[in-house]
Amino acid sequence: MSIRPGVTYTIGILCIILLIVSITLLVANVFLNVVDNYVKKEVQLRNGTVAFETWKNPPPPIYMQFYFFNVTNPDEVLNGGKPFLEEKGPYTYREYRPKENVTFMNDGKVVFAITPKTYVFVPELSTGDPETDLIRTVNIPVVTVMNMVRYSSSQTILAEALVTFEREGLFTMRTVHEFLWGYKDPVLAAIHLVIKDIDEYFGLYHKMNGTADGRYAFLTGKENYKDFTRIIEWKGNKSLDWWTTDMCNMINGTDATSFHPLITKNETLHFFSSDLCRSLYATFEKALSVKRIPAFRYVLPRETFANVSENPANSGFCVPAGNCLGSGVLNVSTCKQGAPIILSSPHFYQADQKYIDDIEGMHPDKANHETFLDINPLTGLLVRAAKRVQINVYIEKIDGFHQTGNVQTLIFPVMYLNESVLIDDLSAAKLNSMLLQTEVVTVIPFMIMALGILFGLIFIILVCTNRSVDNEASEAERTPLLKPS
Ligand SMILES: *[C@@H]1O[C@H](CO)[C@@H](O)[C@H](O)[C@H]1NC(C)=O
Ligand SMILES: *[C@@H]1O[C@H](CO)[C@@H](O)[C@H](O)[C@H]1NC(C)=O
Ligand SMILES: *[C@@H]1O[C@H](CO)[C@@H](O)[C@H](O)[C@H]1NC(C)=O
Ligand SMILES: *[C@@H]1O[C@H](CO)[C@@H](O)[C@H](O)[C@H]1NC(C)=O
Ligand SMILES: *[C@@H]1O[C@H](CO)[C@@H](O)[C@H](O)[C@H]1NC(C)=O
Ligand SMILES: *[C@@H]1O[C@H](CO)[C@@H](O)[C@H](O)[C@H]1NC(C)=O
Ligand SMILES: *[C@@H]1O[C@H](CO)[C@@H](O)[C@H](O)[C@H]1NC(C)=O
Repeated sequence: MSIRPGVTYTIGILCIILLIVSITLLVANVFLNVVDNYVKKEVQLRNGTVAFETWKNPPPPIYMQFYFFNVTNPDEVLNGGKPFLEEKGPYTYREYRPKENVTFMNDGKVVFAITPKTYVFVPELSTGDPETDLIRTVNIPVVTVMNMVRYSSSQTILAEALVTFEREGLFTMRTVHEFLWGYKDPVLAAIHLVIKDIDEYFGLYHKMNGTADGRYAFLTGKENYKDFTRIIEWKGNKSLDWWTTDMCNMINGTDATSFHPLITKNETLHFFSSDLCRSLYATFEKALSVKRIPAFRYVLPRETFANVSENPANSGFCVPAGNCLGSGVLNVSTCKQGAPIILSSPHFYQADQKYIDDIEGMHPDKANHETFLDINPLTGLLVRAAKRVQINVYIEKIDGFHQTGNVQTLIFPVMYLNESVLIDDLSAAKLNSMLLQTEVVTVIPFMIMALGILFGLIFIILVCTNRSVDNEASEAERTPLLKPS
């Protein structure tokens, strides 16, 4: 039971050295910096990086799901009654969006590309057949034409169309496929004979299959990793100041497929939405994990679409100036060729209660109807997301148009969509193993520190046991002397 003092002191010195080394490594952030530099170098749009390949040809499947609202009581609505809507769907399409015409410019700091989107129907993930399922909803071309002519003296435009127009009502019944991908509308066709600029076809996604929405310029992140995939130009428009530019040409942030690496909780993510015709921002909500990958969830804060008294910054979206709608709805009429289209979240989630109460069949729900982005903070890669938007039509009684009957003034839901993406298993496995490697690297200083502490404990135990052995020994010697005899 005797340990030489030399061993004890060696262990003590080892303990101190290990602790100093680990603390130095932690203070100097050496390993974290190694990881950061690796991530910053790899998460860059450069021919050959994984990030570039993922950006160019996103491997995870993107699904676009459409839900339509079928009007069950059209006659009552025309007599001023409350609409009863039945949700039908989903009608699911797989969305392919490769980047094409990819050209690097400016010493690899900028990359130009177009993103044509192709939609292929997926029957297994749908409730019905879009080619045969009929939906009755607002006749958007008729409402649009009524709005076009009501304030102008261009009734003459309608001279040819008027006969056709007379036969068309406020509601129409068409297949899901027609509403989405287009049908030859009789009213538009009649107007087209006079004004060639007006398309005779109408469809919410008419001519959108396989077409790109213009050329984008992205920053590659070469100069600053925080600018990874940030859009700086769209359709040749460089102005980033969206307050002073036309509402449809606002550009800011990324296209929301990836974000810069090393994002933090208190960061605001800016991205551009070409459908909403505006730039948006998302804020941190919570941390979670997706297929075992750590992720931060970002959501659009309520203020994004709040009314002007709650968020005065939104007064820029009151069109025409001063004409403000309630919370949770956005007038995008100027971006939709004058059609009275109002966007909102599905089922008027987070919108004014009055819009929900005006319609029978609205059941807003956070889990199903909010837009969110789940991003891996280290790499900035999007691991799951859902964009949910509802398309509504503004309808009101218009004098001189019998089609509108006695209808109430309503923001009338036509359909909503859920465009979602979830990282595929292969990419998830790759990302997980990369995250594991970086984790191992970052725990090295802690492992050294743990070893130092272990040696420290051994040192203390050795010192104590040696001392008590000494004490016992000396006690044994002294006892006989102290024993009263
Ligand atoms: C990337 O590199 C490959 C092969 O080296 C080449 O064929 C391709 O054109 C390059 N792509 C771009 C966008 O420069
Ligand atoms: C879109 O185009 C692709 C390829 O041209 C085609 O396979 C697909 O069926 C089209 N989708 C629709 C909804 O028409
Ligand atoms: C929508 O309502 C119409 C009229 O009641 C009906 O004929 C049609 O089948 C409904 N659509 C679906 C998809 O259920
Ligand atoms: C645009 O993006 C930049 C940086 O991403 C941000 O600082 C700025 O506030 C954004 N502007 C708006 C109006 O969202
Ligand atoms: C704005 O929204 C708030 C909260 O929903 C509401 O109390 C207020 O009356 C609204 N203001 C206007 C002008 O609609
Ligand atoms: C929406 O905007 C258009 C164009 O500025 C305007 O004419 C229309 O009155 C607005 N609609 C509503 C409901 O405010
Ligand atoms: C998309 O959202 C809808 C509700 O908005 C939900 O029913 C559906 O399951 C979602 N789809 C995916 C793939 O998450």
